[in-house]
This record gives sequence, C-alpha cells and structure tokens, in this order.
Amino acid sequence: MANAMSCGVCPVFLLFSVFTSCLGLFSGGETFKRQVSVELNPGSAVTPPGGDLLHVRAVGDNDTLHFLFCSQGAPTLLLVHTNSSSSTVKVDWPLFLARNTSGSLRVEPESSILYSTAVVFSRLLEYDDVNDTADPTSDPFPPYELQNFTWSRLNLSGPVALLCGAASNFMNGSLCLQLSVFQSEGRGQLWPRLIHTANSSQMGVWLDGMLPRANRSRFLLELQAVSGAYPLSRVEVLRSIDDEYTPSIFKVSQWVSSVNGSSDVLGFVQWKPVAYRQSNPALEDATPCRHSDPRPQSSEKTAASSGLIRAFYSEPDTFALNVSFGLAGEPFYNSTQFLSWTVLVGVGSPPVDSFSPLVVAIMAVGLGTPVVVLLLGGLWVCIRKRAADSTTAYEPIN
Ligand SMILES: *[C@@H]1O[C@H](CO)[C@@H](O)[C@H](O)[C@H]1NC(C)=O
Ligand SMILES: *[C@@H]1O[C@H](CO)[C@@H](O)[C@H](O)[C@H]1NC(C)=O
Ligand SMILES: *[C@@H]1O[C@H](CO)[C@@H](O)[C@H](O)[C@H]1NC(C)=O
Ligand SMILES: *[C@@H]1O[C@H](CO)[C@@H](O)[C@H](O)[C@H]1NC(C)=O
Ligand SMILES: *[C@@H]1O[C@H](CO)[C@@H](O)[C@H](O)[C@H]1NC(C)=O
Ligand SMILES: *[C@@H]1O[C@H](CO)[C@@H](O)[C@H](O)[C@H]1NC(C)=O
Ligand SMILES: *[C@@H]1O[C@H](CO)[C@@H](O)[C@H](O)[C@H]1NC(C)=O
Ligand SMILES: *[C@@H]1O[C@H](CO)[C@@H](O)[C@H](O)[C@H]1NC(C)=O
Ligand SMILES: *[C@@H]1O[C@H](CO)[C@@H](O)[C@H](O)[C@H]1NC(C)=O
Ligand SMILES: *[C@@H]1O[C@H](CO)[C@@H](O)[C@H](O)[C@H]1NC(C)=O
Ligand SMILES: *[C@@H]1O[C@H](CO)[C@@H](O)[C@H](O)[C@H]1NC(C)=O
Ligand SMILES: *[C@@H]1O[C@H](CO)[C@@H](O)[C@H](O)[C@H]1NC(C)=O
Repeated sequence: MANAMSCGVCPVFLLFSVFTSCLGLFSGGETFKRQVSVELNPGSAVTPPGGDLLHVRAVGDNDTLHFLFCSQGAPTLLLVHTNSSSSTVKVDWPLFLARNTSGSLRVEPESSILYSTAVVFSRLLEYDDVNDTADPTSDPFPPYELQNFTWSRLNLSGPVALLCGAASNFMNGSLCLQLSVFQSEGRGQLWPRLIHTANSSQMGVWLDGMLPRANRSRFLLELQAVSGAYPLSRVEVLRSIDDEYTPSIFKVSQWVSSVNGSSDVLGFVQWKPVAYRQSNPALEDATPCRHSDPRPQSSEKTAASSGLIRAFYSEPDTFALNVSFGLAGEPFYNSTQFLSWTVLVGVGSPPVDSFSPLVVAIMAVGLGTPVVVLLLGGLWVCIRKRAADSTTAYEPIN
C-alpha cells in the first residue's frame, strides 16, 4: 500500500513540472536585452533654463530605442525606434529653448527611424463629486495645466528619473512622474506590478499631499498621444488572467496605433484600470479607474504646450483621452491625499501577462488531485478484487 501511495503522488509532480516547463515556453526562454545608457541634457554645457531633457539610449542587436523625457512645458515622453545601433540624438539648444520651430531635436540618420510616438501628460482635472456619482462632468473646477506647473530638476538614479511639480495652490503637495527604462523583461516591484520588456518604459504618476478644492474632490488625468504616422487611436480592453500581481483587477487596457488594414501594433500605452490611495498600498487602497475614448486633438495646441513635441515633430497627429480615478461610493481624494497610477509606454506589441508560478502550482494541484484520487481508487479496487479472487480461488481446496 505504501508503494501504491508514493506512485500515486508522482503525477502531481509530473503535472507540476509539465506546467512549469510550459511556463518557460510562454515566457520565451532567453529574454531580449538592450544596452541602456543615460544622458542628461545631451550636448548642453549648462543646465538649461525651463526644464531638463533626459535621453536614454537602449541599444539592441541591430536597432536603437531612444527614450526622451522632457519637462520644458507639459511633461512629455518621446520614443524613437531606429533600425541602426548607432543612431544619435542631436539638439540645437538655442532653437530648442526658443520652442518655436520644429527640427531643433533630431534623431540621425533620419532614414533609420522606424517609428516614433510620444505621450504628453497635459492636464490634471478636478471635480466636486457632491452627490458621489463619480460623473466627471458634474461640477468641474478649472483644470490644472501641467505646462504651467513649477517643475523640479530631474532626479536621476540609473535609468530611473523622478520629476515633481506643483501648481501655486498645491500647498506642500506635488504631482510626480517617475520614468523607468529597462534592460530586459521583468515586472514592477509595486502594485500593479506590470510586466515590462526592453521595448517599453514605465511611468508612475502620483499626486501626493495636495490640498483638494473640495472635500469630495475626484481627479482625472488627461493624456495626449502624438505620432508622425500611425497615431495611438484606439483603446483595447483585454481580460487579464493573473490576479496575484494585481489583486482584484482582471483587465488590462491598451491604447494602440492602428496600421491601415493590419493588426500590427507599432506603439502602445498600456495600463491596468486601477489606482492606489496609499504609496505602500494594501488591497483596500485600490480604486478602479476608467478611460474616455481617444479623440483627435489640435496638434498645434499640443506642440505649443510641450517643448519636446514642438522640437521633434513637424506634422504631428494627436489623440487624447482622460483617465478618471475612482467610482461612485469609493473614498474621495481627501481621505488619504494620495493617488498613484502606472502606465507602460513602448514600441511593438504590448506585453501579455502569463500565469504566475503560484497560479501554476494551484492549477497543478487542482488538476493533479483528481488524478491521484482516481489512481488510488483504481488501485484500491484492483487490490480488493485480487484479494477477493485469491480467496475465491482457495475456496474449492478447502
Ligand atoms: C544584424 O545585422 C547583421 C548584418 O547587418 C546580421 O548578420 C545579423 O543577423 C543581424 N542580427 C539580428 C539579430 O537581426
Ligand atoms: C523664435 O523665437 C526667437 C526668439 O524667441 C525669434 O528670434 C525667432 O525669430 C523665432 N522664430 C520663429 C520661426 O518664429
Ligand atoms: C534602415 O536603415 C537603412 C540604412 O542603414 C536605410 O537605408 C533604410 O531605409 C532603413 N529602413 C527603414 C525601414 O527605415
Ligand atoms: C446633486 O443632487 C441634488 C439633489 O438631487 C441636485 O439638485 C444637484 O444638481 C446635484 N448636483 C450635481 C453636481 O449633480
Ligand atoms: C498656462 O500657460 C499658458 C502659456 O504660458 C497660458 O497661455 C495659459 O493661460 C496658462 N494657463 C493657466 C490656467 O494659467
Ligand atoms: C532624489 O531621489 C532620491 C530617491 O529616489 C531621494 O532620496 C533624494 O532625496 C532625491 N533628491 C532630490 C534632490 O530630490
Ligand atoms: C508646509 O510645510 C511646512 C514646512 O514643512 C509647514 O510648516 C506647513 O505647515 C506646511 N503647510 C501645509 C499647508 O501643510
Ligand atoms: C523588442 O524589439 C526587438 C526589435 O524590434 C525585437 O526583436 C524583440 O523581439 C522585441 N522584444 C519584445 C519582448 O517585444
Ligand atoms: C470639509 O469637511 C470638514 C469636516 O470634515 C469641514 O470642516 C470643512 O468645512 C469642509 N471643507 C469644505 C471645503 O467643504
Ligand atoms: C480634508 O479632510 C480633513 C479631515 O480629514 C478636513 O479637515 C479638511 O477640511 C478636508 N479638506 C478639504 C479641502 O476639504
Ligand atoms: C486606408 O485604406 C483605405 C483603402 O484600403 C484607403 O481608402 C484609406 O485612405 C486608408 N486610410 C489611411 C489613413 O491611410
Ligand atoms: C477630459 O475631461 C475634461 C473635463 O471633463 C474635458 O473638458 C476634456 O475635453 C476631456 N478630454 C478628452 C480628451 O476627452
């Protein structure tokens, strides 16, 4: 019987190893890597007035991804993908700072550019949700234009850059943006623990300690996506399978480019529809968020608000959407005076979530247990039958 037991347990381990090796297949075995280097205000001898320009070069085998993050005007992240591992960024600083001509920031050689896309963090909107309906149009306050904030210098630590700013009536509060660029595939440390790749960067946005204009204030963030061709024009909402990394959230939203007549995605902004009311959140600090449909936007206004858009694009194409934080019945901003949200911005196809090891183990046990029970049951029936057969076989002799 002891032998039969140990054999019956085997299938659990067998199933487990099958699942973990499947997991290995899903995550693609060896991961794609880039060499990442960071440069602040490239080519400028002095600290430029009006805000910093960060350039992160991420060099692959035969390509380069340039990440540019700038606080001249509204905070803007620009991604330029080239088909050369030696493409460079050239900035004409006097023209760049004048902010009235395109072409003052170039990626060279120009023929190597495969795709570019930018995200402008344009406005913070606040409304007084007196009736707790979470309807953003109900009682809006005048919007905060992020181009008019007072921004700090960029605080760099490796490929992570922190930018904080405030409007004059924020008191001691601030709105912060934290950009992270990655060498290879991985997952964020903090909830929502988004998957990232070497082809994407992560932007954390948080609103900390600012004084809301009403006790029942809720907030929205307006994002503008800019491209030369194939702008981010539609949002897909997909089911997400894994509940362990982002508890209670089963969806992932991705704002993607659409190429005419093709399902290829050239660039994306991806997020989980959740924000957190604490910097070190527990499950009860999660608050759902919603997004509006992307709408075409005046590119001239966008270029006027962002130094980087003005400098790089001559004929930009712009779409914008709002992300609103909190639903009816959820606590208001004033309950913790903190709100954080995270997005991924990248080129190519957005990363797809895979099962976590814990979920795989649960599935292995869940599927393995019935098999064990069946095997043990079968063995028991066999042994009983044999025993019965042998007793009946001996009967005639007696
Ligand atoms: C990179 O380019 C070289 C020659 O230009 C080619 O031999 C090599 O296969 C390419 N590598 C990849 C990963 O595409
Ligand atoms: C841009 O602004 C500068 C001064 O700020 C001015 O000298 C220059 O003529 C302007 N250029 C254009 C094209 O408007
Ligand atoms: C790739 O780079 C070469 C020059 O190295 C250029 O001639 C070619 O047009 C580029 N391809 C694309 C799709 O941009
Ligand atoms: C809140 O509810 C009251 C009473 O139902 C209504 O008169 C008022 O217009 C509502 N306010 C908003 C901003 O919807
Ligand atoms: C923000 O700055 C722009 C340009 O300086 C100005 O036109 C606009 O009125 C300002 N907006 C607010 C709300 O202060
Ligand atoms: C820069 O960020 C680090 C942590 O990310 C923080 O400890 C430090 O105080 C910041 N420096 C400034 C000048 O804000
Ligand atoms: C802002 O910070 C200063 C110094 O830390 C403090 O004295 C002041 O009371 C704070 N103001 C508010 C509105 O919290
Ligand atoms: C990243 O981009 C490179 C070059 O376009 C591609 O070869 C690679 O498969 C991409 N990696 C991921 C994880 O998307
Ligand atoms: C906010 O609520 C407090 C009590 O919780 C009240 O004293 C205060 O007047 C309210 N402020 C506003 C702007 O309604
Ligand atoms: C925020 O809530 C506190 C109590 O938690 C209250 O004293 C304060 O007035 C509220 N602030 C605003 C702007 O209503
Ligand atoms: C998309 O393709 C259709 C026909 O294939 C064409 O009529 C249309 O102009 C194209 N649109 C764009 C934006 O290229
Ligand atoms: C975002 O919301 C504000 C306020 O409701 C609205 O004025 C603005 O047009 C919205 N932006 C987009 C892109 O929908």
